[in-house]
Amino acid sequence: MTRNDLNALGLTPDQELLAAAQAAFAQAYAPYSKFHVGAALRTPDGQVFSGANVENASYGLGRCAEQSAVQAMATAGARTFTDLVVYADSSPPASPCGACRQVLYEFAPDARVVCVNAEGEVLSGLVRDFLPHGFRLEEREDGHGVGTE
Ligand code: THU
Repeated sequence: MTRNDLNALGLTPDQELLAAAQAAFAQAYAPYSKFHVGAALRTPDGQVFSGANVENASYGLGRCAEQSAVQAMATAGARTFTDLVVYADSSPPASPCGACRQVLYEFAPDARVVCVNAEGEVLSGLVRDFLPHGFRLEEREDGHGVGTE
């Protein structure tokens, strides 16, 4: 199979997003776990946003790379993305944690996700594949929120 065939199957990461995710990986702040992660996503109009994991001495306050990238995107005013690459130096590649899946689902249930490591091993799928039956909040007629898929 050629690289193009693999690309079509979502089995190779987008090279621009991979480079951005690797650059974010290099900036990760992970003195406690020593596990660096970088993530990069692209909006429909071609903007790229990236993020790294940022840990804290109060462990529970650490922020994953995927969430950092989504925060950057939303802060810039963008509200959805089509592709996400997650880069980490682990085998198998780091898969988004449960909390990140819900954060990704909020903005882009149909986005493609490609998790990759330095060896080029890949784990891929749509956000909705990673989070079946993800939670959404829709407004009822009485103004109260109601949970729905
Ligand atoms: N981490 C991420 O940033 N993304 C993932 O997909 C998996 C885990 C971070 C959280 C923490 O800083 C470190 O990796 C170890 O769990």
